[in-house]
Amino acid sequence: MEMGLTRALLCILLLQGKLWLISCLAHCSCYTFHDTNRNRWAESNQDCETRNGTLVSMETEDEWNFITSEIQKINSTANINNDWFIGLSIARKELEKYNSLEDKRKAGWSWTSGQKLTINSKWQRNEPNNRGRYDDYCVVISKNWPKGKYGFIKDVNCFFQHPYICEYDAGNKVNTSLNPVCWSNSSSKIRLTSCTEVNIPTTVITTTTSKIDATTTLPVQVYSIERTTAITTTQSK
Ligand SMILES: *[C@@H]1O[C@H](CO)[C@@H](O)[C@H](O)[C@H]1NC(C)=O
Ligand SMILES: *[C@@H]1O[C@H](CO)[C@@H](O)[C@H](O)[C@H]1NC(C)=O
Ligand SMILES: *[C@@H]1O[C@H](CO)[C@@H](O)[C@H](O)[C@H]1NC(C)=O
Ligand SMILES: *[C@@H]1O[C@H](CO)[C@@H](O)[C@H](O)[C@H]1NC(C)=O
Repeated sequence: MEMGLTRALLCILLLQGKLWLISCLAHCSCYTFHDTNRNRWAESNQDCETRNGTLVSMETEDEWNFITSEIQKINSTANINNDWFIGLSIARKELEKYNSLEDKRKAGWSWTSGQKLTINSKWQRNEPNNRGRYDDYCVVISKNWPKGKYGFIKDVNCFFQHPYICEYDAGNKVNTSLNPVCWSNSSSKIRLTSCTEVNIPTTVITTTTSKIDATTTLPVQVYSIERTTAITTTQSK
Protein backbone atom coordinates (compact mmCIF):
# COMPACT_ATOMS: atom_id res chain seq x y z
CA MET A 1 0.00 0.00 0.00
CA GLU A 2 1.15 3.48 -0.70
CA MET A 3 2.28 6.02 1.80
CA GLY A 4 -0.47 8.59 1.58
CA LEU A 5 0.30 11.88 3.27
CA THR A 6 4.01 12.06 2.80
CA ARG A 7 4.02 11.01 -0.82
CA ALA A 8 6.25 13.19 -2.90
CA LEU A 9 7.98 14.65 0.12
CA LEU A 10 11.70 14.48 0.26
CA CYS A 11 12.89 12.79 3.41
CA ILE A 12 16.11 13.35 5.25
CA LEU A 13 17.25 10.98 7.91
CA LEU A 14 20.09 11.83 10.26
CA LEU A 15 21.78 8.71 11.48
CA GLN A 16 25.25 8.18 12.87
CA GLY A 17 26.00 11.76 12.08
CA LYS A 18 25.33 11.16 8.44
CA LEU A 19 22.65 12.55 6.29
CA TRP A 20 20.59 9.95 4.58
CA LEU A 21 18.27 10.85 1.83
CA ILE A 22 15.37 8.49 1.72
CA SER A 23 12.69 8.58 -0.84
CA CYS A 24 9.32 9.40 0.52
CA LEU A 25 7.79 7.68 -2.42
CA ALA A 26 8.06 4.84 -0.01
CA HIS A 27 5.94 1.93 0.76
CA CYS A 28 5.22 1.97 4.47
CA SER A 29 2.75 -0.23 6.28
CA CYS A 30 2.05 -1.39 9.79
CA TYR A 31 1.12 -4.93 10.74
CA THR A 32 -0.58 -6.68 13.63
CA PHE A 33 -0.39 -10.37 14.47
CA HIS A 34 -3.54 -12.04 15.78
CA ASP A 35 -2.76 -15.27 17.54
CA THR A 36 -6.24 -16.73 17.73
CA ASN A 37 -8.04 -19.64 16.13
CA ARG A 38 -11.47 -18.08 16.24
CA ASN A 39 -11.63 -16.89 12.64
CA ARG A 40 -11.80 -18.39 9.20
CA TRP A 41 -10.10 -16.57 6.32
CA ALA A 42 -12.99 -14.26 5.45
CA GLU A 43 -13.68 -13.46 9.10
CA SER A 44 -10.01 -12.74 9.65
CA ASN A 45 -10.03 -10.30 6.78
CA GLN A 46 -13.21 -8.74 8.15
CA ASP A 47 -11.57 -8.30 11.51
CA CYS A 48 -8.67 -6.50 9.83
CA GLU A 49 -11.19 -4.36 7.95
CA THR A 50 -12.94 -3.25 11.12
CA ARG A 51 -9.53 -1.91 12.14
CA ASN A 52 -9.15 -0.21 8.74
CA GLY A 53 -6.71 -2.80 7.46
CA THR A 54 -6.82 -5.98 5.41
CA LEU A 55 -5.10 -9.33 5.62
CA VAL A 56 -1.47 -8.73 4.72
CA SER A 57 -0.43 -8.39 1.07
CA MET A 58 3.23 -9.09 0.39
CA GLU A 59 3.89 -7.67 -3.02
CA THR A 60 7.66 -7.71 -2.81
CA GLU A 61 10.31 -10.07 -1.57
CA ASP A 62 11.51 -7.35 0.83
CA GLU A 63 8.13 -7.15 2.49
CA TRP A 64 7.96 -10.95 2.62
CA ASN A 65 11.39 -10.97 4.30
CA PHE A 66 10.15 -8.55 6.92
CA ILE A 67 7.00 -10.55 7.71
CA THR A 68 9.00 -13.78 7.75
CA SER A 69 11.42 -12.34 10.28
CA GLU A 70 8.58 -11.02 12.43
CA ILE A 71 6.80 -14.37 12.68
CA GLN A 72 10.06 -15.95 13.84
CA LYS A 73 9.64 -13.89 17.01
CA ILE A 74 6.28 -15.43 17.86
CA ASN A 75 5.38 -18.87 19.12
CA SER A 76 1.74 -19.19 18.24
CA THR A 77 -0.41 -20.61 20.99
CA ALA A 78 -3.45 -20.91 18.74
CA ASN A 79 -1.76 -22.92 15.97
CA ILE A 80 0.89 -25.44 16.81
CA ASN A 81 2.31 -25.30 13.27
CA ASN A 82 2.63 -21.52 13.40
CA ASP A 83 0.68 -21.10 10.17
CA TRP A 84 -0.75 -17.61 9.71
CA PHE A 85 -3.45 -16.56 7.27
CA ILE A 86 -2.25 -13.99 4.75
CA GLY A 87 -4.30 -11.99 2.26
CA LEU A 88 -3.71 -14.34 -0.65
CA SER A 89 -6.46 -16.39 -2.27
CA ILE A 90 -7.83 -17.61 -5.55
CA ALA A 91 -11.21 -18.67 -6.87
CA ARG A 92 -11.57 -22.40 -7.19
CA LYS A 93 -12.61 -22.32 -10.82
CA GLU A 94 -9.55 -20.25 -11.65
CA LEU A 95 -7.12 -22.68 -10.06
CA GLU A 96 -8.81 -25.74 -11.49
CA LYS A 97 -7.97 -24.58 -15.00
CA TYR A 98 -4.41 -25.69 -14.36
CA ASN A 99 -2.85 -29.10 -13.91
CA SER A 100 0.88 -28.81 -13.41
CA LEU A 101 2.34 -27.51 -10.18
CA GLU A 102 4.20 -24.78 -12.03
CA ASP A 103 0.99 -23.57 -13.63
CA LYS A 104 -0.94 -23.68 -10.36
CA ARG A 105 1.76 -21.56 -8.73
CA LYS A 106 1.46 -19.00 -11.48
CA ALA A 107 -2.33 -19.06 -11.63
CA GLY A 108 -4.21 -15.90 -10.74
CA TRP A 109 -3.50 -15.81 -7.01
CA SER A 110 -4.25 -12.33 -5.78
CA TRP A 111 -3.59 -10.28 -2.69
CA THR A 112 -6.23 -8.35 -0.81
CA SER A 113 -4.49 -5.25 -2.21
CA GLY A 114 -5.61 -6.38 -5.67
CA GLN A 115 -2.10 -7.18 -6.87
CA LYS A 116 -1.14 -10.52 -8.30
CA LEU A 117 1.25 -12.90 -6.60
CA THR A 118 4.80 -12.31 -7.78
CA ILE A 119 6.79 -14.15 -5.12
CA ASN A 120 6.18 -17.54 -6.75
CA SER A 121 9.31 -19.09 -5.31
CA LYS A 122 7.92 -19.09 -1.77
CA TRP A 123 5.59 -22.05 -2.08
CA GLN A 124 6.27 -25.03 0.14
CA ARG A 125 7.21 -28.27 -1.55
CA ASN A 126 4.35 -29.58 -3.73
CA GLU A 127 2.18 -26.60 -2.87
CA PRO A 128 -0.37 -25.40 -3.78
CA ASN A 129 -2.12 -28.74 -3.58
CA ASN A 130 -5.76 -27.68 -3.60
CA ARG A 131 -6.46 -28.07 0.05
CA GLY A 132 -9.58 -26.01 -0.31
CA ARG A 133 -13.28 -26.66 -0.36
CA TYR A 134 -16.12 -24.38 -1.22
CA ASP A 135 -15.31 -21.69 -3.76
CA ASP A 136 -11.93 -20.35 -2.77
CA TYR A 137 -8.51 -21.42 -1.82
CA CYS A 138 -6.72 -19.48 0.88
CA VAL A 139 -3.08 -19.25 1.86
CA VAL A 140 -1.06 -19.40 5.07
CA ILE A 141 2.57 -18.48 5.74
CA SER A 142 4.48 -20.95 7.92
CA LYS A 143 7.06 -19.92 10.47
CA ASN A 144 9.48 -22.76 9.77
CA TRP A 145 8.15 -25.48 7.50
CA PRO A 146 9.47 -27.67 6.06
CA LYS A 147 12.08 -27.38 8.81
CA GLY A 148 14.71 -24.89 7.79
CA LYS A 149 12.44 -23.06 5.34
CA TYR A 150 11.20 -19.85 6.85
CA GLY A 151 8.09 -18.04 5.69
CA PHE A 152 7.06 -20.49 2.99
CA ILE A 153 3.42 -20.59 1.96
CA LYS A 154 0.76 -23.19 1.21
CA ASP A 155 -2.91 -23.22 0.35
CA VAL A 156 -5.45 -24.29 2.94
CA ASN A 157 -9.16 -24.59 3.33
CA CYS A 158 -10.62 -21.10 3.71
CA PHE A 159 -12.98 -22.51 6.33
CA PHE A 160 -10.21 -23.58 8.66
CA GLN A 161 -9.33 -21.25 11.49
CA HIS A 162 -5.86 -19.85 11.74
CA PRO A 163 -4.03 -16.99 13.37
CA TYR A 164 -3.74 -14.09 10.93
CA ILE A 165 -1.74 -11.01 10.03
CA CYS A 166 -3.34 -7.64 9.28
CA GLU A 167 -1.76 -4.81 7.32
CA TYR A 168 -2.59 -1.10 7.56
CA ASP A 169 -1.47 1.49 5.10
CA ALA A 170 0.45 4.51 6.22
CA GLY A 171 -2.53 6.81 6.69
CA ASN A 172 -4.23 4.66 9.31
CA LYS A 173 -3.99 4.83 13.06
CA VAL A 174 -3.27 1.41 14.44
CA ASN A 175 -4.48 0.33 17.87
CA THR A 176 -1.27 0.30 19.90
CA SER A 177 -2.54 -2.37 22.26
CA LEU A 178 -2.11 -4.77 19.33
CA ASN A 179 1.65 -4.05 19.29
CA PRO A 180 1.89 -3.02 15.66
CA VAL A 181 5.21 -3.23 13.86
CA CYS A 182 5.83 -1.13 10.80
CA TRP A 183 8.05 -1.42 7.80
CA SER A 184 9.16 0.94 5.09
CA ASN A 185 11.03 -0.10 1.98
CA SER A 186 13.21 2.98 2.24
CA SER A 187 14.43 2.39 5.78
CA SER A 188 14.17 -1.35 6.10
CA LYS A 189 17.01 -1.61 8.60
CA ILE A 190 15.16 0.49 11.12
CA ARG A 191 12.41 -0.91 13.26
CA LEU A 192 9.40 1.34 13.05
CA THR A 193 6.45 1.53 15.36
CA SER A 194 4.51 3.75 13.03
CA CYS A 195 4.96 5.11 9.56
CA THR A 196 5.65 8.61 10.79
CA GLU A 197 8.04 7.94 13.61
CA VAL A 198 11.44 6.43 13.46
CA ASN A 199 12.51 4.35 16.38
CA ILE A 200 16.17 3.50 16.42
CA PRO A 201 17.94 1.09 18.72
CA THR A 202 20.07 3.14 21.09
CA THR A 203 23.28 1.35 20.18
CA VAL A 204 23.15 2.59 16.64
CA ILE A 205 23.00 6.19 17.57
CA THR A 206 25.75 8.69 17.91
CA THR A 207 24.95 12.27 18.53
CA THR A 208 24.19 14.04 15.37
CA THR A 209 25.97 17.14 14.38
CA SER A 210 23.57 19.94 13.92
CA LYS A 211 20.41 20.91 12.26
CA ILE A 212 19.63 20.64 8.65
CA ASP A 213 19.40 23.55 6.33
CA ALA A 214 16.77 22.64 3.93
CA THR A 215 17.69 24.46 0.83
CA THR A 216 15.33 22.58 -1.33
CA THR A 217 12.06 24.04 -2.43
CA LEU A 218 10.30 20.75 -1.87
CA PRO A 219 8.56 20.21 1.42
CA VAL A 220 11.04 18.48 3.64
CA GLN A 221 10.35 15.96 6.30
CA VAL A 222 13.13 15.80 8.81
CA TYR A 223 13.65 12.96 11.19
CA SER A 224 16.15 14.32 13.64
CA ILE A 225 17.79 11.80 15.80
CA GLU A 226 18.72 12.60 19.36
CA ARG A 227 20.99 10.56 21.54
CA THR A 228 18.54 8.00 22.83
CA THR A 229 15.54 7.32 20.71
CA ALA A 230 14.76 8.97 17.73
CA ILE A 231 12.06 10.84 17.42
CA THR A 232 11.10 14.24 16.51
CA THR A 233 9.44 14.62 13.23
CA THR A 234 9.13 18.11 11.92
CA GLN A 235 7.98 19.35 8.63
CA SER A 236 8.67 22.58 6.91
CA LYS A 237 7.75 24.09 3.62
C1 LIG B 1 9.29 1.57 -2.40
O1 LIG B 1 7.96 1.42 -2.85
C2 LIG B 1 7.51 2.49 -3.66
C3 LIG B 1 6.02 2.31 -3.89
O2 LIG B 1 5.73 1.00 -4.26
C4 LIG B 1 8.35 2.54 -4.93
O3 LIG B 1 7.92 3.61 -5.76
C5 LIG B 1 9.81 2.72 -4.55
O4 LIG B 1 10.60 2.65 -5.71
C6 LIG B 1 10.25 1.64 -3.57
N1 LIG B 1 11.59 1.95 -3.11
C7 LIG B 1 12.52 1.01 -2.93
C8 LIG B 1 13.82 1.49 -2.38
O5 LIG B 1 12.32 -0.16 -3.21
C1 LIG C 1 -11.43 3.81 10.27
O1 LIG C 1 -11.45 4.93 9.40
C2 LIG C 1 -12.60 5.75 9.59
C3 LIG C 1 -12.61 6.81 8.50
O2 LIG C 1 -11.36 7.46 8.45
C4 LIG C 1 -12.57 6.33 11.00
O3 LIG C 1 -13.71 7.12 11.22
C5 LIG C 1 -12.55 5.18 12.01
O4 LIG C 1 -12.41 5.68 13.31
C6 LIG C 1 -11.40 4.24 11.70
N1 LIG C 1 -11.52 3.06 12.56
C7 LIG C 1 -10.53 2.61 13.30
C8 LIG C 1 -10.80 1.38 14.11
O5 LIG C 1 -9.43 3.15 13.34
C1 LIG D 1 9.62 -20.28 21.04
O1 LIG D 1 9.86 -21.63 21.36
C2 LIG D 1 11.22 -22.03 21.19
C3 LIG D 1 11.29 -23.55 21.34
O2 LIG D 1 10.48 -23.98 22.40
C4 LIG D 1 12.09 -21.26 22.15
O3 LIG D 1 13.43 -21.64 21.98
C5 LIG D 1 11.93 -19.79 21.86
O4 LIG D 1 12.69 -19.02 22.76
C6 LIG D 1 10.49 -19.36 21.91
N1 LIG D 1 10.39 -17.99 21.39
C7 LIG D 1 9.62 -17.07 21.96
C8 LIG D 1 9.59 -15.74 21.31
O5 LIG D 1 8.94 -17.29 22.96
C1 LIG E 1 -7.70 -1.94 20.73
O1 LIG E 1 -7.71 -3.34 20.62
C2 LIG E 1 -8.11 -4.00 21.83
C3 LIG E 1 -7.92 -5.49 21.60
O2 LIG E 1 -8.60 -5.92 20.44
C4 LIG E 1 -9.55 -3.61 22.15
O3 LIG E 1 -9.93 -4.21 23.37
C5 LIG E 1 -9.65 -2.09 22.28
O4 LIG E 1 -10.99 -1.72 22.44
C6 LIG E 1 -9.09 -1.42 21.03
N1 LIG E 1 -9.07 0.03 21.21
C7 LIG E 1 -9.56 0.86 20.31
C8 LIG E 1 -9.42 2.30 20.61
O5 LIG E 1 -10.10 0.48 19.26
